[in-house]
Amino acid sequence: MLGDGAVDANVHLMVFSLSSPSQPNPQCPSLEIWSYTFPMTTLTNLEQVRRVVTAIPGPNSNALIQRRAEAVSGGLGLTFPVAIERASDAILLDVDGNQIIDMGSGIGVTNVGNSASRVVANVIDQVQAFTHTCFTVAPYLNYIEVCEALNRLVPGTHKKKSLLVNSGAEAVENAVKIARHYTKRQAIVVFEHAYHGRTNLTMALNAKNMPYKEGFGPFAPEIYRVPMPYSYRWIGPQETITEDAMEMITHKIEKEIGAHNVAAILIEPIQGEGGFIVPPKGFLPALAQYSREHGIIFIADEVQSGFARTGHMFAVEEEGVVPDMLVTAKGIGGGLPLAGVTGRAEIMDSVHVAGLGGTFGGNPVACAAALGAIATIEEDGLVERANHIGKLLGDGLRALAAKYPVIGEVRGRGAMQAVELIVPGSIEPNSAAVTKVLKYCTANGVFILSAGTYGNVIRFLPPLVISDELLTDALSVLDEAFATI
Ligand SMILES: Cc1ncc(COP(=O)(O)O)c(C=O)c1O
Repeated sequence: MLGDGAVDANVHLMVFSLSSPSQPNPQCPSLEIWSYTFPMTTLTNLEQVRRVVTAIPGPNSNALIQRRAEAVSGGLGLTFPVAIERASDAILLDVDGNQIIDMGSGIGVTNVGNSASRVVANVIDQVQAFTHTCFTVAPYLNYIEVCEALNRLVPGTHKKKSLLVNSGAEAVENAVKIARHYTKRQAIVVFEHAYHGRTNLTMALNAKNMPYKEGFGPFAPEIYRVPMPYSYRWIGPQETITEDAMEMITHKIEKEIGAHNVAAILIEPIQGEGGFIVPPKGFLPALAQYSREHGIIFIADEVQSGFARTGHMFAVEEEGVVPDMLVTAKGIGGGLPLAGVTGRAEIMDSVHVAGLGGTFGGNPVACAAALGAIATIEEDGLVERANHIGKLLGDGLRALAAKYPVIGEVRGRGAMQAVELIVPGSIEPNSAAVTKVLKYCTANGVFILSAGTYGNVIRFLPPLVISDELLTDALSVLDEAFATI
């Protein structure tokens, strides 16, 4: 069923049918071919308005969630017990007919909007052409094109090369593998509040035990954790936070590990799951400088902060930091699973032939989607749009903070914004308030996500194509939610 809406491009689709041919099929006379040109943005187009028509979750969602409980592992979390039928741009349509504002982009994935037109068109074309060869068995063009795009977009004028894999965790694992291989060192330095994935190595890289690590050990060795300058909860003076954090980090590296044993320093330029912790100005450049001086590979994990999310293509650009390696996932694929590692050519080429790879990494359908997503970001000015969203959302959240003392801090950059909730009059984390706000917003057709080491952060990662009207509407629901607690 096609909806209405603006038409900005077209998708050509061949439909195989047993009746009403537009042309006979010479290969098989009984199979006739329909040829239809879909107006592209109408493939999944939904009116960009919030519409609550049942209780949320509604009866159909409830039935589906029950079925899920019977069939699906109980080890999976569930943020919204609301099942989705369709989605476009910044609106999700649930199975009960409610239109919900998407303020999470599937955890920072659909930066270019849900079912973005160029992504949909490229995927359809690619599925019809071929779906898989395994790039290391028989190569194809769009894998190379995605690598070329990454090499162009990742900061730095030096020669870069890339590798494509399936998920953020797999990309982080590969970055660590390559850094160890290149440096012939083993130690990896990571940060408090860090999150890098759910595989064995990335669990070890994560800071938080519950739910990511509890009972899943033993973990990979040679991982060393250092303090993160989390300014809201920093116990020292704010004026010297960068210098003090650097002092603690370099002390640990030099006295406890030995700088000459460190293969890589791995950091999220803005920490995601940790609660959108933005390091103080000067910290990332100081860390990059220290890495350079000691032959340590500086790896930026931009899985959540990348692809225009923060008002730059990558968050490290804010302070002109040039990492040796940069890890991407989430937003790169416009909703399809793809991830990448991009780094200095001499590092990326240091691994022996066939030392890297995997069956599905850089699948052609995911690469086609990525090329659509990258074109959308560049041609539709989504980096600038993220800055605009950051202003609108940031101002709205600061207005709420002035009104509700439960909001301890508003922070973030571009379209990666968060509020940290506290018990008023203290900085005691208030995760109960987060639960209440999320529940109210869900019931009223707005999806927002939680985060944070203490579970007391609400994060906002809207699709970058969200309209000002939808953002304003989401903020008004949030205002009502805070008024209830
Ligand atoms: C910064 C960061 N790194 C790595 C990952 C892991 O990515 P994936 O879930 O695709 O494995 C995530 C996921 O949230 C992330 O935010």
